[in-house]
Amino acid sequence: MCGIIGYTGSLVAKDVLISGLKRMEYRGYDSAGVAVQDGEGLHLAHRVGKVANLEEAVSGGFSQGTCGIGHTRWATHGRPSEQNAHPHTACADDFAVVHNGIIENFAALKEELIQAGHVFSSQTDTEVVAHLVEDAYQGDLLEAVRAAASRLVGAYGLAVVCAAEPGVIVCARKDSPVVVGVGKTGALVASDLVALIDETRDVVVLADDTFARLSYQDGRGSIRFCDAQGREIHPEPTHVDWDISAAKLGGYPDFMLKEIHEQPRTIRDTMAGRMVNGHLQFDELSLSVEELSAIDRVYIIACGTSYHAGLVAKNLIEAWSRIPCEVEVASEFRYRNPIVTPSTLVVAVSQSGETADTLAAIRDARIKGAKVFGVTNVVGSPVAQESDGVIYIKANKEISVAATKSFLGQVVALTLMAMLLAQVRGGLTINQIRMLFRELADTAGQVEQILADTSAIDAAAQACKDAASALFIGRGIGSTICYEGALKLKEISYLHAEAYAAGEMKHGPIALLHDGFPVIAVATKSPTYDKVISNIQESKARGALVVAIATEGDTEIANHADHVIYIPKVRDCFSAITASVPLQLFARSIAIARGCDVDHPRNLAKSVTVE
Ligand code: F6R
Repeated sequence: MCGIIGYTGSLVAKDVLISGLKRMEYRGYDSAGVAVQDGEGLHLAHRVGKVANLEEAVSGGFSQGTCGIGHTRWATHGRPSEQNAHPHTACADDFAVVHNGIIENFAALKEELIQAGHVFSSQTDTEVVAHLVEDAYQGDLLEAVRAAASRLVGAYGLAVVCAAEPGVIVCARKDSPVVVGVGKTGALVASDLVALIDETRDVVVLADDTFARLSYQDGRGSIRFCDAQGREIHPEPTHVDWDISAAKLGGYPDFMLKEIHEQPRTIRDTMAGRMVNGHLQFDELSLSVEELSAIDRVYIIACGTSYHAGLVAKNLIEAWSRIPCEVEVASEFRYRNPIVTPSTLVVAVSQSGETADTLAAIRDARIKGAKVFGVTNVVGSPVAQESDGVIYIKANKEISVAATKSFLGQVVALTLMAMLLAQVRGGLTINQIRMLFRELADTAGQVEQILADTSAIDAAAQACKDAASALFIGRGIGSTICYEGALKLKEISYLHAEAYAAGEMKHGPIALLHDGFPVIAVATKSPTYDKVISNIQESKARGALVVAIATEGDTEIANHADHVIYIPKVRDCFSAITASVPLQLFARSIAIARGCDVDHPRNLAKSVTVE
């Protein structure tokens, strides 16, 4: 949820920290802070709001020290305020800590520390870590952090500095991502490698219950690793071949628009190398053909937008391989004892690969003996590490909090997985699979076509921008896309939106309609097209303002809808890919018209690493 960073090297630390925090701002933007170490001790700065506020605060006479830690926060314990902003210090300003995660036993620890004479200055769970380290310190920061960590229950990615050990940062990890690397000018730690990538592409993703000590001496950065018992370990570095341009706007006004435009490339990259000699290829899925054939139930578990990608996939898996498939939000799955057996395939979908509920659901499913496939965008993420097999979507770094290109990448990856199951189980012939694969690849060009002219989308958005609420309706694949369209609209424009299977309209939601009420109907050519037209007519009869997403060449629909957004004709099973793009642009256009910051919607963070 939060972003942590640390740097020790030859550059002025505050500059490296601020630039890394800006790249990780998608993880939280309630407040930000840094602690920089120099010959005089630790120097702290905290500001409420975005990193830009902090940048301004340290732009003047702030410490020029070359070692420090920083944080950008998404508040859990304690409201957003300077007092609750990280880094947190202990009784004196000799130790400073930044933390991503939640310390579940912080209340008991705080009570104990207060009894022992410690004085607290924030409402956060994190502050206990600073006091625990202070208590345990006997001249070796790594040992003190290790001792403190042994008292913690919960999730943490930590970076700690102390005044007595110049140039040293100690990090620890449990269930929250921590990446470290030695770069051109020093050693770095961060929650996300996007903050390290200017310095190095060879990184170590810390494993749970391990520690790293970063230092800089004689012009060289170095890192020492140990486990919870203090034994030295030597984890293998991972080479990252990410395109750094993903972290820059590249001429676009916001990351959301940039990422929407990266979707054709995402489709192509996610499909690349998947058809070899006319057969689908997924070497990274560790199940044998026999094991795949034995699967009698599929569960797709995910949250938010990733859940919606799962809804699309359910339609394809059941249609093509006739295996029952259920899609469930991970936060429900993990608490309700679902029927999971060794012949169940659980597919965990997560862009970030670190969503707490999805991870917990994976662990539950594996305990019950199920095989788990992960679908994620982040190499080496916890979802990738904890799954039996992983398919990476190739969306490259997604910065905007509202997921767009990762959604399309997930839909494409899950579509390929559905084809694979059908290939193994004979639900589709090889020729059918090849034809579908070609048509799926064609959607990249069709999305480009949609992006080339967005005037109809903008006009529809202008007509709806002042509404208080909107209803999205569709059937079949169309209804799954409505859920995603409604989510995009509410999260970035704060306009209330609800999605309904159009057939359910008459069972309640139609009561909402009145003159000018926006109804966004996904009315592409599909087996249920005529039914959706009837639902549009029912909406019009109640005065609704209807925006229809329709198939190119459908002139009939203009007689029923106030605004028609045409998209290229595709096979119904691929309509989620094409129809979701105008809905993303529609939401963004309304958000911009309402003066919202589309990349940083209020109260949200991109990675939800807490329950
Ligand atoms: C919405 C959005 C969220 C995420 C959800 C799951 O635009 O981005 O709803 O989809 O928080 O995140 P991941 O996919 O990282 O598990």
